[in-house]
Parts: sequence; C-alpha cells; structure tokens
Amino acid sequence: MTRFHQTPVAAEANWMMQLGERFAFEGLLAQLRPRIAVEIGTWEGGSLRRIATHAGHVHAFDIDERALQHAEALDNATLHLGDAAVELPRVLAELHARGEAVDFALVDGLHTYDAVQTDARALLAADACVATTIVFHDTAHAEVRRGLEDLQLDEHPKVGLWLPDFVPGYRVRDDATLSEEIRGRAFNGLGLLVLDPDFRPQANGHEAFIPFAQLRP
Ligand SMILES: C[S@@+](CC[C@H](N)C(=O)[O-])C[C@H]1O[C@@H](n2cnc3c(N)ncnc32)[C@H](O)[C@@H]1O
Repeated sequence: MTRFHQTPVAAEANWMMQLGERFAFEGLLAQLRPRIAVEIGTWEGGSLRRIATHAGHVHAFDIDERALQHAEALDNATLHLGDAAVELPRVLAELHARGEAVDFALVDGLHTYDAVQTDARALLAADACVATTIVFHDTAHAEVRRGLEDLQLDEHPKVGLWLPDFVPGYRVRDDATLSEEIRGRAFNGLGLLVLDPDFRPQANGHEAFIPFAQLRP
C-alpha cells in the first residue's frame, strides 16, 4: 500500500496546484493517456512531470529559461522557450503539418485577461486541436475568469463541454493581517474545456450551482 503522502501527486514539491486540483488533474490524465499533450506555463516542472508520466510526448511553453532544465530531465518533453503568444500557434501549425493532433492541454501561463484569451484562442483556432481536453488553471482568478467568460466558450462550434469550476478555487479570507495582493481575492480552480465533434452534452444541473469561490466570505 502507498501511503497518501508518498503518492507521486501529493509528494511533488514544486507544483502550483492544490491537492484536489492535483488529483483531478492526475485522474484525467490517467484516463485520457494523451499521445500528444501541450503545457503552457511550466515553472518548476510539477505539472509537466505529471503530464509526461501519462502522455506520449509533451510540448511545453515557458518564457523563462529556468523552465528548460525541467523538460530536459524528461525523455518525452520539449520546452519551447519564448512568449506562448508567438510560440504556441507556430508549434500547433507544425504539429498539424506533421499529421499530429493534440489530445490534452494545460493552460497555466500568464494570468492576465489578454494572455489567457490569446492562449485559448490559439488552441481553439488550431487544426491540431479537434478532440482535445483542455484544462485551465486559476479559473477563480478574477482576470483569468473574466477573460474566459468573455470568450463565450459555450457557444464556440468546437466546444462540447465547458465547466469553469470543474474543480472550484478558493477565496482568501478578508483578514487585515494579510497582504493587499491576496486579501479577499480568489485563486486556483480548474476549468475543463472539451473540444470534441462527437460530444453530446447531457444536462447535469451545473447551470444552477454557485461555486464556493464566488460566495461572499
Ligand atoms: C503559474 S506558473 C506555471 C505553474 C505550473 N504549471 C505548475 O502547475 O507547477 C506560470 C508560468 O508561466 C510562465 N509564463 C509567463 N508568461 C508567459 C508567456 N507569455 N509565455 C509563456 N510562458 C509564460 C512563467 O514563466 C511561469 O513559469
């Protein structure tokens, strides 16, 4: 038996996700077993190592050269160094030209309104992304949330399912001892976007739910 703290998911020290997010992320990957995966935002490689465990090959994107070493330590990952706004569309076009499709993507790069929209639009526009499961991290973050809401993903012709609170995020207590930067604000949360021409959504009642992160403390 593996004890909880010894599981690779709980034991990973350098991964910017909470435990619930981590295990949901791992469960998705273990079931999907993507041939080709994409990661936007590698940082210290925590999420990259988990994607690489389940994927055939991972194309990772980061603007910070310190991310390179984490991809180089894996034999099935390539780190594309530079601004994802430039590199991602280029690599997606190359994959399509080689007849390769993206099965899975994590969007966890720059958390601004414009950047998350640019990343999402690149994936939605790519011919390499047809039957692709996309996870967005930090959907409770105000700018990320607003950027994704304004894209009206539900109405995009490629989209079969959009769950912005697949794993709900957190709101930091409105506590005067905490810094202004985090106090009262919402962070984390995984959004799930499924692109699939064969997907037939079933009514699941999510429309009536209010995620915890949106409730007042
Ligand atoms: C939140 S961290 C990624 C965390 C990682 N996915 C994890 O779960 O451990 C965000 C990363 O995005 C990278 N980043 C920021 N702006 C970027 C851009 N324009 N293009 C590519 N990567 C960017 C940062 O360098 C940073 O490593």
